[in-house]
Amino acid sequence: MPEVQTIISEASGAKADLHIRHGDKINFGNLRLEARATPGHTDGCMTFLLQTKTAGFAFTGDTLLIRGCGRTDFQQGNARLLYKNVHEQIFTLPGDTFVCPGHDYKSRNVSTVEEERRFNPRLTKPVDEFVHLMDNLGLPYPKKIDVAVPGNMVCGVQDGA
Ligand SMILES: [Fe+2]
Repeated sequence: MPEVQTIISEASGAKADLHIRHGDKINFGNLRLEARATPGHTDGCMTFLLQTKTAGFAFTGDTLLIRGCGRTDFQQGNARLLYKNVHEQIFTLPGDTFVCPGHDYKSRNVSTVEEERRFNPRLTKPVDEFVHLMDNLGLPYPKKIDVAVPGNMVCGVQDGA
């Protein structure tokens, strides 16, 4: 659809129609997203804030998951940076802001800033404990990542496909 544009953070280094930075606003319909840079899982990670008349939402991607967070042991992962950005850019939002993560392994869809501030088992730890935990998760290397990352860098559109 020619009227649909792909958007990604400038910091990702990926191709897209539009590149955005921290603080940029994205208008669509009668709504507006505010982009906040929240690198740590990858350099390009952003959280998008949406304020409606009745509620606030934070679309956190893989930066902040429900009772968890994105791993920081591959691509440009940086546990200390992820911790700082979650605390400074997401946990400072009003407590009743809904947290909508990029995915969830247990079919949960939504949490709130207050719930994650209180109950996230990783991000309630002191920063040094968090970094130690994230550096020692011992997770396997994702099987498809060497295919998926080059695809992501061109927003899934491969030349000659
Ligand atoms: Fe991810």
